[in-house]
Amino acid sequence: MPLNLRTPISRWLLGACLLLAGLPSQATLLPTDTHTAPLIIAHRGASGYVPEHTLAAYALAILQGADSIEPDLVMTRDGHLVARHDNELGLTTDVSQHPEFAARKRTQSVDGVPLSGWFSEDFSLAELKTLHAIERIPTIRPGNARLDRAFEIPTLQEIIDLVKSLQLSQQRRIGLYPETKHPSHFQRLGLAMERPLVRLLHRNGYFGASAPVHIQSFEVDNLKTLRGLTRLRLVQLLGAGQPYDQQLRGSPLTYTRMATPEGLRDIARYASGVGPDKAYIIPRDAAGNLGQPTAFIANAHAVGLKVHPYTFRAENAFLPSDLRQGSDPAGRGDLETEIRAFLAAGVDGLFTDQADIAVRVRAAP
Ligand code: G3P
Ligand code: CA
Repeated sequence: MPLNLRTPISRWLLGACLLLAGLPSQATLLPTDTHTAPLIIAHRGASGYVPEHTLAAYALAILQGADSIEPDLVMTRDGHLVARHDNELGLTTDVSQHPEFAARKRTQSVDGVPLSGWFSEDFSLAELKTLHAIERIPTIRPGNARLDRAFEIPTLQEIIDLVKSLQLSQQRRIGLYPETKHPSHFQRLGLAMERPLVRLLHRNGYFGASAPVHIQSFEVDNLKTLRGLTRLRLVQLLGAGQPYDQQLRGSPLTYTRMATPEGLRDIARYASGVGPDKAYIIPRDAAGNLGQPTAFIANAHAVGLKVHPYTFRAENAFLPSDLRQGSDPAGRGDLETEIRAFLAAGVDGLFTDQADIAVRVRAAP
């Protein structure tokens, strides 16, 4: 009898088979969730050391002890999910050095903002595979820039394959924390990312709320769509202004409103956690120093939401004034103290470009 994938039992059976096939020995050797709280999420990989969103960046982060790696995801013209922070490719790839793609450069509106460059949706996966990653912020991270053009743009499947290999060598479960980038933009192009993402994760054996997967988005409606497609954990990101999908539909919902106790209660209906800008938890004072914790964590915990703020970075350019060391924006400051303050405030996890530092701080008595 053919397997009808529309029925829950068939999907469960297929998932069980794939789990056994795809995770041969670690499925039995590794417990579902081995990380020590709080969760350390390698933001775009070990992006403080290697150009972001490359297999090298993810591998290094895992070897540094990160519990989970974060690929931001965009779509190719032929419907593949690849790891890039933006659909515009000029900032983090060598596309501008490829004369064969010069004519693809154009200007369009992305999430309401005019942007010039080369866009992932104009490239097939085969074409994207001829490009190589470059460092996004070479003046802050000149060491990373020495690795410009060393690595390809990875697909989500390649990242999952890497995770499965390293799970075996590391003998621990390693999480995936994908973010859907520009979901409304891709939906309007006929390249909606939600179903391909869920299909890929399920096909790789990731099912349910105990799988080591969190799917994040700055938009709201695509998380609600995802809620209808999977039981994997969902995380609502909170930034500044308004989610783009809410802007498109003329809703008054803002991130500030979403961060109130009532807003958090609404989020808890479809998500298991929130990923706020860290200023929601400990804002900086008028002098730019680390201030005092707000009630955000208590309010989120009161409605059952985990709290995973972003982004913890060691370079002075990103630190509160009182934690900078020296005047060079690229110099390293006291990230350890910043992380300790957030751990003391009660975060359940954090996104960092330097997972090695966070792992060390977490382990310290
Ligand atoms: O996803 C958490 C954090 O990464 C959000 O900011 O811009 O780095 O994707 P961004
Ligand atoms: Ca992200």
